[in-house]
Amino acid sequence: MTKKVYMDHNATTPVDPEVLEAMLPYLKDCYGNASSVHEWGKEARYGVEKARMQLGELLGVSESTLTFTSCGSESNNTILRSVASRFAGQGCHIIASAIEHPCIYRCLEDLENQAEVEVSWIEPDGNGVIHPDRIAEEIRMDTRLVSIMLANNETGVIQPIQKIAQMAHEKGIKVHSDTVQGVGKIPVDLEELGVDFATFSAHKLYGPKGIGAFYARDRSWITPMILGGGQENRLRAGTESVPMIVAFGAAAEKSKRVQQEEAELLVAMRDDLEKRLLESIPEALVCGKEAARLPGTLCVCFPGIMGTYLVLDMAEEGIAISSGSACSANQSKPSHVLIAMGIDSELARGAVRLSLGRANSPEQIEEVANTALRLIQNQKEHPPEEETELDLLSLCD
Ligand SMILES: Cc1ncc(COP(=O)(O)O)c(C=O)c1O
Repeated sequence: MTKKVYMDHNATTPVDPEVLEAMLPYLKDCYGNASSVHEWGKEARYGVEKARMQLGELLGVSESTLTFTSCGSESNNTILRSVASRFAGQGCHIIASAIEHPCIYRCLEDLENQAEVEVSWIEPDGNGVIHPDRIAEEIRMDTRLVSIMLANNETGVIQPIQKIAQMAHEKGIKVHSDTVQGVGKIPVDLEELGVDFATFSAHKLYGPKGIGAFYARDRSWITPMILGGGQENRLRAGTESVPMIVAFGAAAEKSKRVQQEEAELLVAMRDDLEKRLLESIPEALVCGKEAARLPGTLCVCFPGIMGTYLVLDMAEEGIAISSGSACSANQSKPSHVLIAMGIDSELARGAVRLSLGRANSPEQIEEVANTALRLIQNQKEHPPEEETELDLLSLCD
């Protein structure tokens, strides 16, 4: 099958050529261990610390607050488990949104099952926005953390993190934000947001997969999940993956340089796509339409069809998109995010997500819109059999 248009940037992004260029020497000649004292080691250490500085510059924080990990999921698990362990035996109530990524909600469910934390889940409004007042209503004497994502991976809806952090801090509660989908797509200044912890993943901003990081304003809150050598200031053992870290730094540096201009282009393309789809199917529902959204994300529910089948049909045509949530596509269940937003479950089953990015050009919009419209019509005329088993491999993003 020919690959034609990639419109699944929220799942992952291609590695930017500048990023690849920056990491290559660290896969070839600069192979030292960053903890070694000789020239090879010093060279590697320089790469790691430069990358930490580049990430700090993108996020508006000192590099000493940043720790590299293997991915966004590890980063999120580390923050949540650290808070739980800090308050072990003293009562640990955590407030999180009902639309978090599985690496947040599954970790919290696990901690709940082990009776280490109690969790209150906050539902968003119909546009997918979490309101600070709703969080305030759930605060208790033993509330230790509020964890709300910056931008949702399915809808692209951006949360009012600054207001949430302000409210929580007035009550002496720490705030974590999973900023994995926001960083690189919108300006993210962690000082301005006012969070205590934040988490990142390079593969969402044109870096490679398998490298992440977290921000901890106060390092003493972190309990390492991986014990061993003293790497990453004793917060994350394991020989640093120097090429991946260098690549993350280069991706951060490029994002800082191009983000604003890129966002304008993405908004224009996304809006054009949205307009074309709605003109032909006015009854389609754009999720989070009235909310602030990530520039390139469009999540639409088409009545009377199954989003997962549209994704498969588009794939047959060489176009990569995703259904509501790739994780729930596997189970053919409507996405937990859309359900939490109060979207009817039948309608939510007709959801697809188109996420635009650097691999797209304005010329592709017409082709994607026309193909989607044709395939939607086709599915309505020839509905898939109820029993057909969907066998999408686990496509968590
Ligand atoms: C919002 C959000 N958080 C966390 C993650 C996990 O990041 P990673 O794939 O690096 O584990 C993802 C995507 O995968 C995401 O979209």
